[in-house]
Amino acid sequence: MKILVTGGAGYIGSHMTRMLIARGYEAVVLDSMEYGHKESLPAEAPLVVGNVADETVVKKLFSDHHIDGVMHFAGYLQVEESVRFPIKYMKNNVIGPVTLLQCMREAGVKPIIFSSTAAVYGNPLTVPISEDHRKQPVSPYGLSKWAFEELLRVYDRSYGIKSIALRYFNAAGASLDGLHGESHTPETHLISLACQAALGLRAHFSIFGTDYETPDGSALRDYIHIEDLCDAHIKVLEALISGHPSDVYNVGTGTGTSVREVVAEITRAAGHAFPVTEAGRRAGDPPILVADPAKIMKEFGWKPAHSDIGSIVTSAMKWHTSHPKGYA
Ligand SMILES: NC(=O)c1ccc[n+]([C@@H]2O[C@H](COP(=O)([O-])OP(=O)(O)OC[C@H]3O[C@@H](n4cnc5c(N)ncnc54)[C@H](O)[C@@H]3O)[C@@H](O)[C@H]2O)c1
Repeated sequence: MKILVTGGAGYIGSHMTRMLIARGYEAVVLDSMEYGHKESLPAEAPLVVGNVADETVVKKLFSDHHIDGVMHFAGYLQVEESVRFPIKYMKNNVIGPVTLLQCMREAGVKPIIFSSTAAVYGNPLTVPISEDHRKQPVSPYGLSKWAFEELLRVYDRSYGIKSIALRYFNAAGASLDGLHGESHTPETHLISLACQAALGLRAHFSIFGTDYETPDGSALRDYIHIEDLCDAHIKVLEALISGHPSDVYNVGTGTGTSVREVVAEITRAAGHAFPVTEAGRRAGDPPILVADPAKIMKEFGWKPAHSDIGSIVTSAMKWHTSHPKGYA
């Protein structure tokens, strides 16, 4: 089976591509390379450089390769940037990928797995958050993902495109051998930022909000190891290919880890304390974001194996230590 991985040269997509190859699939990567890294890809996966919105490129890709399914990771993901430039996010995350869906239709390719996000829920009314929780995104980023989920539902009803949207909570960690990891520019993800501060690669790490109603006053998040996240993709892809109907699943552990607990774990892994500053809450940051992952666990027997905070931090520290500049 050959899988098209859009955004496959990015953090999660490149890990996914390597896992697909390791599990006996063929993979073709389509990435604009705006944020991607060629070095993150295995030699077995051809890279097509182009935008998912470019009809000529995408059409040619579907005619050059017999594609059995699509994993769609391509997208912008910086929440703060989306607040400043909402149109940029709507164009890249909603309008552009319609071309991908159109080319899938024309090529007769039905299954697509979509990278959605916990940001579709906005500020949660209840935690843990289950899939049927109110959807009320508070950023254009969250809205763009919700809008594409809705588009996928229409494409199923109208054209028979079968999709599973996975709403990730916080993807984190590196490959277990420490050879591949997170290399975002700019980096906005908490565990990478804290690892870099512990390694002296940035001046300090900031805790935003220390007066939340949580056990230690800092925010609680649900961290999912990239290996477990990619394993979830393979499970749902196989189900979709075997006729599972379109649906939506949370991917998280169901356990919240506080920012202070992350700092403590990174201090342990580094073997020394590092500069941590305490700042006020950031607008739009909910105190607690924790998934209810019961649905994906029950339906697919998926279970995180590496998502305890110790394993996540150990793998991330290995990667950042050996690649202080990321892939750059
Ligand atoms: N990292 C997380 O914690 C997280 C959480 C929830 C959802 N997601 C979603 O997962 C996906 C992957 O995230 P990531 O952390 O790997 O990001 P990333 O920036 O590392 O990877 C995204 C890749 O997509 C490419 N890309 C962007 N727009 C494109 C386009 N229009 N056409 C072709 N290529 C394009 C970029 O060059 C990049 O290589 C994103 O859609 C993101 O919204 C990520």
